[in-house]
Amino acid sequence: MKNKIDLIIKNHSFQCNLRKIETLEISREFCKHDMQHFLDVARLMYIINLENSLGLPKYIIYTTALLHDIGRGEEYENGIAHNIASVHIAKKILHECEYEDKEIDEILKAIGDHRNNNGEFNTLSDVLYKCDKLSRNCIHCGATEMCKWSIDKRNSKITY
Ligand SMILES: [Fe+2]
Repeated sequence: MKNKIDLIIKNHSFQCNLRKIETLEISREFCKHDMQHFLDVARLMYIINLENSLGLPKYIIYTTALLHDIGRGEEYENGIAHNIASVHIAKKILHECEYEDKEIDEILKAIGDHRNNNGEFNTLSDVLYKCDKLSRNCIHCGATEMCKWSIDKRNSKITY
């Protein structure tokens, strides 16, 4: 994989925002938005990419997954919707890590759409949306009673 991923995970803004989320979610009972979640989403996206022969580059998939919730701390602190805050923070990080403009546009579109996309497995946006949901371990969850996800939306079977 391109060493761009190393640049992302060492990026100052990425690290600061990740730590901020960790601190703010320390006693969160629902699903967290931590490095484990980012990697779960990345790996699922890569599997879906291979299964559907989408041809999305591995480093683009991992970059998108690592950054898709990076604005969660902003949502907790300032009430900015996290997909919007994530786009804002990710844009700065992607420029600092010298991604190409076309790559930045595609990644930011996927992050911005990741709360309300309903498409099939065709684009980076579709794959992020579906894998974000698929990544959640509803089978073994301590917050089932309070979860706002309807029963039919929960991952009640292991598919990946
Ligand atoms: Fe997520």
